[in-house]
Amino acid sequence: MSSVFRNLSRRDPKLFEIIKKEYWRQRTGIELIASENFTSPSVLECLGSILTNKYSEGLPGRRYYGGNEFIDEVENCCRDRALNAFKLNKEEWGVNVQPYSGSVANIACYLGFLKLHDRIMGLDLPSGGHLSHGFYIGDKKINHTSSMFESLPYQIKEDGYIDYELMEDLAMRFRPKLIICGGSAYPRDFDYKRFREICDKIGAYLMCDMAHINGFIATELMKSPFPYCDFVTTTTHKTLRGPRAGMIFFRKQFEKQINDSVFPGTQGGPHQNKIAAVATQLLEVQTPEFKDYMTRVRDNARVLADELQKFGYNISTDGTDNHIVLVNLRNKKITGSKIETICEAVNISINKNAVFGDTSPLSPGGIRLGTSAMTTRGFNEEDMKKLANLLNGLIELAIEIQEKYGKKLVDFKKALKSDEYAERIQSVKFGIQMWVSDYYFPDLHTQVDSHPALQE
Ligand SMILES: Cc1ncc(COP(=O)(O)O)c(C=O)c1O
Repeated sequence: MSSVFRNLSRRDPKLFEIIKKEYWRQRTGIELIASENFTSPSVLECLGSILTNKYSEGLPGRRYYGGNEFIDEVENCCRDRALNAFKLNKEEWGVNVQPYSGSVANIACYLGFLKLHDRIMGLDLPSGGHLSHGFYIGDKKINHTSSMFESLPYQIKEDGYIDYELMEDLAMRFRPKLIICGGSAYPRDFDYKRFREICDKIGAYLMCDMAHINGFIATELMKSPFPYCDFVTTTTHKTLRGPRAGMIFFRKQFEKQINDSVFPGTQGGPHQNKIAAVATQLLEVQTPEFKDYMTRVRDNARVLADELQKFGYNISTDGTDNHIVLVNLRNKKITGSKIETICEAVNISINKNAVFGDTSPLSPGGIRLGTSAMTTRGFNEEDMKKLANLLNGLIELAIEIQEKYGKKLVDFKKALKSDEYAERIQSVKFGIQMWVSDYYFPDLHTQVDSHPALQE
């Protein structure tokens, strides 16, 4: 590692030490956060390149500063590859690859064609939607998209699937100018045709935020939203496995509004090191190896869901079409926060997540597990079985601790460090370290050709 950080390690040992700690946390732990992945050495090289030095406000061929000859090549390459990766006709679709990230892409997209206080309708956050789809709780405007626009969310049903009937009913009465499909914790595919029909009835735009499922869409393992949508926004760092950035795809008639809304409307100079990193990832996305990777991500998620069901867990929608397994813990009488805490103690990263029937957003009744990151590291179906067993053991231990120490999270945290449990926790953590340390971990000092996507 020090060979890559030879300057930082000498000039800024403090920061170098912090990065080193994070390196080992990532390398020796189990990463199940559904929105994370391990990006490739090529992506890391672009991110660390001199492209970061250049200001390039504007679009290729129309920049505010000189010296953008090669930067234009980078951005054009990224735009071409983005359209190719999603098999889009260049006469019909364009793409802006400058958004710094997913939330900013969404805001820039809305502001490109909506007026302040226009009505929007997205999947509610506790139902698996994202903050930037207009989230609020009661009077509290949690995300600016709910103060800039009038937001009325639609929800999932008890079985975990979107309630399309309710959505249509709400849309007919609320008459939003924009309906948003896509989400952060929705394990199933979307009925884009149905969304389009509803939008057509009320004259609304349809936007898909495909941030979580773009890898599946690019590899045709899930349906494409493009035939039905006016706009498609995305992040590039989740299943797509690129750097942290965003993109907005638009039908050609909206080209000027969207481009102007990104710059100068919302952002300043684009981050060309990231745009290059997105471009190189979009090349990888078009390989058969990436399709094989995405297939394994989905197969792994299905095995994980099945194995957890065998242990008696309620899986939202009874399974998954993608990388997300949403576990409803309400029948186990333990909160998602406690499971997140015990997992963190042994270096498994997961997140607590709202599930159907939750009343308090502060104490969600479930957990969200994602298989993209560990599949990149080489986890297969046997590993998933072992993982389900490990998670079940931890949940049972959490239930035991709660029974002894009571329901408060502070007491639970204390118990994990107590003489009674600390040793057991440490031994599970050590076992995990032994298990995963030898799995592939993409880094700049790792051989590029050992990347799973590049294997023969
Ligand atoms: C569906 C969806 N949209 C947008 C975002 C926001 O992306 P970012 O964190 O890059 O702003 C996320 C992030 O989790 C997401 O899940």
